[in-house]
Amino acid sequence: MKLPLPPLLVVDDEKNMRISLETVMTDEGYRVRSAESAEQGLKVLEQEPVFMVLTDARLGGMSGYEFLGKVRDRYPGLPILMITAYATPKLAVEAIKAGAVDYLAKPFAPEELIHAVHRCAERHRLIQENAALRARAAQGVTLDQIIGECSRMMDLKRLIQTVAPTNATVLILGESGTGKELVAGALHSLSHRREANYIRINCAAIPENLLESELFGHEKGAFTGALKQKLGRVEEADGGTIFLDEIGDMSRPLQAKLLRFLEDGTFTRVGGNSELQVNVRLIAATNRDIVHAIRQNHFREDLFHRLNVVQFLPPPLRERSQDVLLLAAHFLRHFCLSMNKVVKGFSPNAQHQLLAHHWPGNVRELRNAIERAVILETAEEIHPGSLPNFQVESKLRKFDTAFIMAGLSLDQAVTNYERDLILSIHEQHQGNLNRVAEQLKISRHALRYRMQRLNILQENSVEEEKNPGESYSQTP
Ligand SMILES: Nc1ncnc2c1ncn2[C@@H]1O[C@H](COP(=O)(O)OP(=O)(O)OP(=O)(O)O)[C@@H](O)[C@H]1O
Ligand SMILES: [Mg+2]
Repeated sequence: MKLPLPPLLVVDDEKNMRISLETVMTDEGYRVRSAESAEQGLKVLEQEPVFMVLTDARLGGMSGYEFLGKVRDRYPGLPILMITAYATPKLAVEAIKAGAVDYLAKPFAPEELIHAVHRCAERHRLIQENAALRARAAQGVTLDQIIGECSRMMDLKRLIQTVAPTNATVLILGESGTGKELVAGALHSLSHRREANYIRINCAAIPENLLESELFGHEKGAFTGALKQKLGRVEEADGGTIFLDEIGDMSRPLQAKLLRFLEDGTFTRVGGNSELQVNVRLIAATNRDIVHAIRQNHFREDLFHRLNVVQFLPPPLRERSQDVLLLAAHFLRHFCLSMNKVVKGFSPNAQHQLLAHHWPGNVRELRNAIERAVILETAEEIHPGSLPNFQVESKLRKFDTAFIMAGLSLDQAVTNYERDLILSIHEQHQGNLNRVAEQLKISRHALRYRMQRLNILQENSVEEEKNPGESYSQTP
């Protein structure tokens, strides 16, 4: 989506000069707004955005220099081209000092003026393009970047592929750090909207009273501080995707407006009367317990149903322990590359630790742990000493209510508990199966069977008489 170039503002109190500037610029294809005084110029700026200001240094009323100062304060970054009366270096220096990007000394050839304006227009385009690029950062997300080979992750990736090309509204639920943002980015980049903008709004990071104007824009004077009209992010996302992150934190009144927007893409800017319409695909995510929020009346049930056309549930990392080493190896490669270090893999004990940990912060926690380890590690392999002290965290965790919160059946919850218990004792005894079996008061054979069933039997488990790690053959 290429936004049209806004007009430029010409401020000159000499009528003939104003008209000839207007003519030259219009002939060049620019749209022009003009004002005969600085005061009037400031009014124009309040009403609509311009890409640059062309002003005479000498004006009746407020001087060109004073005007320049005010524009700089109110609209930092807006280029101002100053026209000075005589070619004296002193005046030029003053203009530049006051913040003009350039100056033209009278008399000047039209080409000089055109050239200077072209440069400002080019700069404006670059800034805009940059902003659009940032907005499209999600475009890079491919399915390969979503690491995970457990069946739930394979299902998730298949679902992304199926749903991405549709316009279906998507709700992504899951604990913090499970990859919700990654899923949203992949949905956009695999859709036919990929060339248009991907706009992410974190509803929890924007103060409640500003979120509506951020989302839907506002008209000039809608509230104190609304000095000029502002387009909404939904307008920026026209033709593309908008990702409302942390939607569970949105206020109820705004939820009502979002519901209306979801019906047919219509909205009204804050303080405005006219109804506008855009074509935007909406993806929402939250790490809150949304059912609980509905019960507490914090979240509208009708909005939930409207958002919940397709639901994604990236699983917590502790429920896919077979992906832990895969992810760890992925992050190890990533950080070695970016830090220009050579660390080949993980020592057996380091792998034990990674597998035994509960990962309450999910993939983000793992990523951070590996980043830290790559920084600290001085050997060829990551050793437990470079990993965070996970034991502190597990001591803090007495009973994990997450099993209950996740709405698991008794069987699933017991299985998870069994897996966690065995992994943590496994860690305590550094993988010595005999000692683990002894502590759990079952035979070694029964333990092996259970571990196999739970998919946690690693080749790194140590059989009797061997030192921990000796029998290690697995590389992530
Ligand atoms: N399956 C995955 N493969 C590779 N990287 C992942 C995966 N899941 C998450 N990550 C990485 O983990 C980090 C956290 O992921 P993300 O920001 O998507 O989590 P989130 O669910 O949005 O968390 P929060 O609720 O805290 O916002 C990111 O750096 C992301 O790239
Ligand atoms: Mg997120």
